[in-house]
Amino acid sequence: MAGTRIIATGSHVPDRVVTNVDLEELMDTSDEWIQQRTGVKERRWVPEGREIGGSDLAKVATERALKKAELEEGDIDAIIYATLSPDHMFPGAACFLQQKLGLKGIAALDIRNQCSGFLYGLSIADAWIRTGAYERVLLVGAEVHSTGLDISTRGRDVSVIFGDGAGAVLLGPTDKNGDGVLGVTLGADGRYAKDLWVDVPGSIYHPQCDPAHMTEGRQYPQMEGSKVFKHAVVKMPGAVRRVLGDAGLGTEDIRLLIPHQANLRITEMVQQGLRLRDDQVFSNIHKYGNTTAASIPLALDEALSEGRLERGDLLVLAAFGAGFTWGAAAIRY
Ligand code: UT7
Repeated sequence: MAGTRIIATGSHVPDRVVTNVDLEELMDTSDEWIQQRTGVKERRWVPEGREIGGSDLAKVATERALKKAELEEGDIDAIIYATLSPDHMFPGAACFLQQKLGLKGIAALDIRNQCSGFLYGLSIADAWIRTGAYERVLLVGAEVHSTGLDISTRGRDVSVIFGDGAGAVLLGPTDKNGDGVLGVTLGADGRYAKDLWVDVPGSIYHPQCDPAHMTEGRQYPQMEGSKVFKHAVVKMPGAVRRVLGDAGLGTEDIRLLIPHQANLRITEMVQQGLRLRDDQVFSNIHKYGNTTAASIPLALDEALSEGRLERGDLLVLAAFGAGFTWGAAAIRY
């Protein structure tokens, strides 16, 4: 098999819109600060008091992708599910999604690489398809952050950024040389693991989470925002140049770059670093905030529905996040 192509995409976000003004009611923040520092105007959060997991959002995103592809659930041979907010500690969210899709027996794998999870998953899906291990792979990124955020002033630097959502991409084989996934590059640096992390529950503690942890707020994400920012604006352009160079291509060949939607200022600096025109870069962070592993497939689905990409165009994806982890992919769509 020559390679792996994108068959179809789908996405889904909860109906509940949470604006920056809504957040002003919960914490000491302002619409102006959030828009200036992040570009986020609103995000979607699952409704309170309902047990809705990322796998529920991923199910709808998958159904939309299947409909576009004129395929059925039974045509999926394996599931790869990227998330940092699994429905439960274990088993993996891919198993819950498999059950919700009514699929029995097929492989179901969780990827825990945060904002870079979709690209790590893409690399695995590409290898599976190229080697013939599986023919059609469902790759999803899905997150429910809102149930795990500190929405008091203590957590404002983190909680104003994140939103809930899911994106699904159906991948399959292509015989055409130079079509589909041209390359994926991945990286990580665990020295920075605690610069963006959630401490508890953690199996290194006895018990894994206790009331003292909760009082200290250690169940909430902690982030050294400016450190993450500084690494993101170097690592993402670097990964893009590398994946393009390996494929014998340059930035001028890019039709559309979809960077992980972390912060509009990060996207703008990545664009400047790569000297790309506005029409070569996609952003939808103003509507959804940072949806970590879901952000790239959600943005890809939206970019396609807006006609920003035609078959044969060069699509480049780039991500950076907790771990630190990062990556980029070049895809002849
Ligand atoms: O997707 C995973 C990867 N994550 C990222 O890529 C995120 C990367 N980091 C960022 O996007 C930015 O660092 C943030 C948006 C998180 C923060 O922006 P910043 O420009 O780095 O702000 P800061 O943390 O340096 O804080 C500046 C000021 C501080 O006040 P003082 O000390 O200057 O008085 C904060 O206390 O802004 C304050 N602040 C806020 N004010 C109003 C922090 N959060 C808020 C808030 N509303 N929500």
